[in-house]
Amino acid sequence: METRPYAEPYKIKVVEEIKLNTKEEREQKIKEAGYNLFNLKSEDVFIDLLTDSGTGAMSDNQWSAIMKGDESYAGSKSFFELQKTINTLLGMPYLIPTHQGRAAENVLFSALIKKDDVIPGNTHFDTTKGHIEHRQAVALDCTVDEAFDPEIELPFKGNIDLAKLEKAFNDYPKDKIKFTNLTITCNSGGGQPVSMKNIKEVSELCKKYDKMLFFDAARFAENAYFIKVREEGYQDKTIKEIVREMFSYVDGCTMSSKKDGLVNIGGFIALKSEELYRQCSVYEIMFEGYLTYGGLAGRDMAALAVGLNESTEYDYLHSRIRQMQYLGDKLVEAGISIVRPVGGHAVYVDAKSFLPNIPQSEFPAQVLGVELYIEAGVRGVEVGVVLADRDPVTRENRFPKLDLLRLAIPRRVYTDNHLDVIVWGLKQVHKRRNECRGLKFTYEAPIMRHFTARFERV
Ligand code: F0G
Repeated sequence: METRPYAEPYKIKVVEEIKLNTKEEREQKIKEAGYNLFNLKSEDVFIDLLTDSGTGAMSDNQWSAIMKGDESYAGSKSFFELQKTINTLLGMPYLIPTHQGRAAENVLFSALIKKDDVIPGNTHFDTTKGHIEHRQAVALDCTVDEAFDPEIELPFKGNIDLAKLEKAFNDYPKDKIKFTNLTITCNSGGGQPVSMKNIKEVSELCKKYDKMLFFDAARFAENAYFIKVREEGYQDKTIKEIVREMFSYVDGCTMSSKKDGLVNIGGFIALKSEELYRQCSVYEIMFEGYLTYGGLAGRDMAALAVGLNESTEYDYLHSRIRQMQYLGDKLVEAGISIVRPVGGHAVYVDAKSFLPNIPQSEFPAQVLGVELYIEAGVRGVEVGVVLADRDPVTRENRFPKLDLLRLAIPRRVYTDNHLDVIVWGLKQVHKRRNECRGLKFTYEAPIMRHFTARFERV
């Protein structure tokens, strides 16, 4: 019997036109953009994989909720509905809404982090690290060693190494480490998940040393999906049951709702402690807004409450992770080297092996991003030397082990046909990879240079 082919558990109600300009036009556009994909206008991009953040499609139920949003300054009905949803899903009674994820970090860290503190975690995301270092504290990476080898196929490469974490708890004075930050899934590690076992063990270790534990929960639902399909004992549990168990082990979370909240803007802090909620409230009012809106419109909170319920459904998550797998498998079939296993929100192409003739000092992943755009109108993002910035002391370029082109897939936006175009585009570039030329800076900002840098071909 022939097996039934797979199809997405949704149909399309609204469409947005995208235009494909010519290869010559793209060659011109990217030159004008200083060979930096951030400088392109989105209308000149055919398939936009710059990020999966805030770029997803909302459902009919979310759009309906938008109309019902309560725009009251204080005591908004939409706030209380969101609070109830988050308490039901995550078991966290205290909610602080924020305008996005980094704003949640800013509020929570203002309450918790002092100069010279140490915050252990599993490869903190850029903004998390930024908010820690801005307070002259240290973001200590305790991820398992296997996470740094793109070839090793392991189910949970986002895990924390318990020995490294315990060593940190012993090495630093007790008052310097107040909490551990666990990113689920680990974005900087390629969207790799953390196992329930690891969450539980990290939680036990934190309790033993009297430390708090927080999730960076941006992609918590994708993490729960991986637990369901990869971890012994979770196959028969629903995603919502798994999510509830994950959050039972932590004190709270920061969240960028632009990912697994399935909305275009928003974030929040969710907490178990009333005392910590009070401390955060001071900074919330100062930085974000009143406690029941925190930089969001009532309608944003209304759409988020619906989005959180949708993103924690198995069928939705399966359709999403399957797309990542589909793209990854097709690239591997074409002989293109990628980070393995494929994570929850993006496929990462190994640019060093794709463009062996281009030295790291000439930014192979940036070159690959530029060439893929010219070839197919597809925009990815460099995660390599350009992003790594210069060493703050020596001012030398930092050369990370991996030079990657991240292809992040927006939620519920593209079909498999779009993915086929991405594969085709990379194959075309692969055929002419020996003719690709490196890049050099013509403008470079002192920090976070990747956003505004300009280049020319060498
Ligand atoms: N934490 C993680 C794990 C993230 O991936 C991001 C954003 C943030 C926090 C910050 O959230 O953007 O709402 O302020 N990641 C985006 C990306 C930008 O492209 O990976 P934000």
